[in-house]
Amino acid sequence: MKIIHNISQCVSMAGGPRRGKAMAEAGIITQAAVLIDGESIQEVGPSEELLHKHPLAERIDAGNKAVVPGFVDPHTHLIWAGDRSNEFEMRLQGRTYMEIMAAGGGILATLTATRKASLEELVAQSLERALRAFSYGTTTMEAKTGYGLDLETEFKQLEAILVLNKIGPLEVVPTYMGAHAIPQEYKGDTAGYTNWLSEVGLPETKNWWLQHAGGQPLPFVDVFCEKGVFEIKETRQILERSLELGFPIKLHADEFENLGGASLAADLGAVSADHLVKTSMEDIQRLGESETVAVSLPGTPFGLGQTEYTPARAIIEAGGYLALATDLNPGTTWNESMQFIQALSCRYLKLTPAEALTGSTINSAKAILRDQVIGSIEPGKQADLLILATDDYRNLSYRYGTNLVSIVVKKGILYPNRDV
Ligand code: NIG
Ligand code: FE
Repeated sequence: MKIIHNISQCVSMAGGPRRGKAMAEAGIITQAAVLIDGESIQEVGPSEELLHKHPLAERIDAGNKAVVPGFVDPHTHLIWAGDRSNEFEMRLQGRTYMEIMAAGGGILATLTATRKASLEELVAQSLERALRAFSYGTTTMEAKTGYGLDLETEFKQLEAILVLNKIGPLEVVPTYMGAHAIPQEYKGDTAGYTNWLSEVGLPETKNWWLQHAGGQPLPFVDVFCEKGVFEIKETRQILERSLELGFPIKLHADEFENLGGASLAADLGAVSADHLVKTSMEDIQRLGESETVAVSLPGTPFGLGQTEYTPARAIIEAGGYLALATDLNPGTTWNESMQFIQALSCRYLKLTPAEALTGSTINSAKAILRDQVIGSIEPGKQADLLILATDDYRNLSYRYGTNLVSIVVKKGILYPNRDV
């Protein structure tokens, strides 16, 4: 047993995911302590009282600093090889992201590098990013495939996720994204590739997972629903087939154009609809009435130098569940820090620091179906939490560009950050 005591603010997020206005309720306990037994949280309460009750527990003095749940990043493309800083320069000179993609760059450039990389190289490059995210407070991260598109490379990406989980300490939650782009082999034949996904890609992925993942739940399936990639008809076909096979589903919707993807996600009972920049009022209403979590990725417009962001206040007003994610990827936003995402959200999504933290913890846990296990500091939950370098959690959103996490606690084990 260990007890983290002398906590200025324990931002507990107790009581489950929050929708609409309830996102502002962070469940703050001042002068608090957290009792940890093995991998789980046993008790949360006033510091003096808990110290008195548990005199034999190992004591960890938080130094009157704030403690928050470990960040959950519910949308990343963590598993890739290579680097596309050349495209960043092309965009600065006026080319658009979709133009570069149509000319064979973009996702397809990363695809070539990822197909070439060995499993060991892919793991080594992804691990570097995983550990950076961890030191910045992300204790669980979703990660998508989608940089292989052929079976062999997609399975190599899934294998990399399994290996990263064995290495730890970051937990990685898998998503199969065979529908991330149209591979060169099917150029001009979106219908053909969509049929291949339905008939081969999805069922084969399910078989592979059942044989290799030792009983872990099936990955999510995600589709890049966008003009010129997978439009509504193909997206629906892939998602319905996924549901038939028992995969939980997610969707990239409204990143560049509005096709109605968010409403489709809500209609099909998707776990989340992500990006949501060009989302219409009709789509927002549908999300607001549904259990589908709206995931905003403000690092993406920021990374692309764009000025339009998710209409987050309208989503909250409509009663929706809003979560935040990095979208960590080599093309639009190479950023591992959920702290930076909170800072962006307060400025451009007009969230309060409490709402931004809700979106980075308990609501983002719901966006990957893990809200029963992680995302809050309350008895029975996994002991994933962060001891900050500040006594006021609002600095997570206010200050930016530096790391305010001094100790990451993952499954009850302490990982101190040097220099913080
Ligand atoms: O979420 N939009 C599709 N996928 C990523 C970008 C992937 C890439 O450019 O490599 C995104 O922004
Ligand atoms: Fe993405």
